[in-house]
Amino acid sequence: MTVNDVLTVHGGTPLHGRIRVRGAKNLVSKAMVAALLGDAPSRLYDVPRIRDVEVVRGLLELHGVRVSDGAEDGELILDPANVASATSDEINVHAGSSRIPILLCGPLLHRLGHAFIPDLGGCHIGPRPIDFHIQALREFGAVVDKAADGMHLTAPNGLHGTKLELPYPSVGATEQVLLTAVMADGVTELRNAAVEPEIIDLICVLQKMGAIIKVHTDRVIEIQGVPRLGGYTHRPIPDRIEAASWAAAALATGGDIEVLGAEQVDMMTFLNVFRSVGGAYEVTDTRPPRDGSPGQEGKIRFWHPGGELRAVALETDVHPGFMTDWQQPLVVALTQARGLSIVHETVYEQRLGYTEALNSMGATIQVYRDCLGGTPCRFGRRDFKHSAVIAGPSKLHAADLVIPDLRAGFSHLIAALAAEGTSRVYGVDLINRGYEDFEAKLAALGAHAERA
Ligand code: EPU
Repeated sequence: MTVNDVLTVHGGTPLHGRIRVRGAKNLVSKAMVAALLGDAPSRLYDVPRIRDVEVVRGLLELHGVRVSDGAEDGELILDPANVASATSDEINVHAGSSRIPILLCGPLLHRLGHAFIPDLGGCHIGPRPIDFHIQALREFGAVVDKAADGMHLTAPNGLHGTKLELPYPSVGATEQVLLTAVMADGVTELRNAAVEPEIIDLICVLQKMGAIIKVHTDRVIEIQGVPRLGGYTHRPIPDRIEAASWAAAALATGGDIEVLGAEQVDMMTFLNVFRSVGGAYEVTDTRPPRDGSPGQEGKIRFWHPGGELRAVALETDVHPGFMTDWQQPLVVALTQARGLSIVHETVYEQRLGYTEALNSMGATIQVYRDCLGGTPCRFGRRDFKHSAVIAGPSKLHAADLVIPDLRAGFSHLIAALAAEGTSRVYGVDLINRGYEDFEAKLAALGAHAERA
C-alpha cells in the first residue's frame, strides 16, 4: 500500500446519476486466455480498464501473444501466432497478483507441451485451494511436478478426453476443464459443473473458435475435442457484479443510480432480493437500431424509494443462486433495514471478516459458525464463521478503514459513503482490480471523495 493509496470520503450524500458497466471481469480474463488456443487472432470488445485485465495481458505477452488495442474503445486484439515459453522467474513476477495463471495450463500444454503455475494470488477470502484444477489436469493426462517456485506441468502422451465429476461446482475448475477439453483427444464429460453466465459466455467464445460443447441439464457439460481452433470475435456479457455493487450503493446511501449496460437476465436473483429489501428498480431493454431509428443501450435504474428497508434472509450459492460477490455490498444496505437479516455464505468459508469494519462504524453484525440458512452447507461442521445476523437499522458513522479484498473493499467504500462524517479508506487501489474508473464514477454520482 502506498501513501497515496487512501481515499478520504465525506459521507452522508445520496449517490445520484448514471454510470456504465462494461464486459464482465470474470469472463473477459478467461476469454483472453482462450485466445491462446486459436491459430488466428481473436478480437474482444468492451474490455474494462482494470488491473486483472492488465495482469492477464502481461501473462499472455510473456507467452508470445501479441496484444494490441483495436479501433473501438475497449477493443483488444490478441494474436497467438508466436506462442512461446516463458521462464518460471518471469511468470513468478505475476505471482500473488491473480488466480488466472492456473487457467493457462491447458492451453499451454496444448500449444507447447509444458506449463508452469506460480503460487496463486487473488483475493484473500479463505484458503482458495486448486486441488480440483490439478486433479482435472491429471485426469486429462498431465504430469504435475510440485517445486519450490510453483508447479511444472508436462503432457508426455498428449491430453485425452475423460469423465470427471467436480466435488463442488467450482467456476475456475469448470473453466479449466473447458479450456483443456476443447482440444483434447476424444470426448470429455464433466459432471457437477458450474453454469454461471460467465461460464456460458466462455462456452460461446470457445464455440466461435470451433469447439463442440454441449450443455446438458443437471450441470453436465460434454466436450468433443477438436484438433484445431481459430480466433473469435466477441462482445462479453456485462459485469453483473459491478452492476449489483452500484445498486447496493444506491440503496445504502438513499440514492438513485442508472447502470447503463446492466442486463436483467443474469441478475434475476439479485433483483428479487433487492426488491424484497425494499429497493426499487426499472429495467430498460437494449433496442437495436431499426428502420432509421437509433438504438438504445439497455440499463437498469436502481433507487431507494423512501420509507424503511426490510430485513431479509439470504444464502449465497452457485448460479442460479445469490452470488457470493453480491453479498458484501448488499450487507451494507442491510445495516439500514429494520429487523434481523440473515446471510449464510456457502461459497467461501471466510468471506464475512469485513463485517468487523462495519461494526466499527456503528453496525450491529454478529457472525456465527452455524449454518443459519435453510440448508446446511459444507462449512457447517468445520469451525468457519460463515453466517451473519445483521440487526438494523443502524446509524453509520465515519471510521478509518483498511480494504481487505476486492468486494469487501467496495462494501467499505459504500459504508463510508453512507456514513455521517469523514472516513479514510486505506488500500483503495485494490478496488481497481475489478471496478473500472471507480473514482471517476463516484465523482459522476456526486460523491465527495478525494485521494489522501
Ligand atoms: N475450490 C476448491 N478447490 C479448487 C477450486 C475451488 O476447494 O480447486 C472451492 C473454493 O475454495 C471455493 C469454491 O470452491 O470455496 C468456489 O470457488 P470457485 O472455483 O468457484 O471460485 P474461483 O473460480 O476461484 C470465481 C471468481 C470469483 C467468484 C467465484 C464464485 C474469477 C477470477 N473469480 O473464483 O470472483 O467469487 O468464482 O462465483 O472468476 C471476484 O470477482 O471478486 C471473485 C472473487
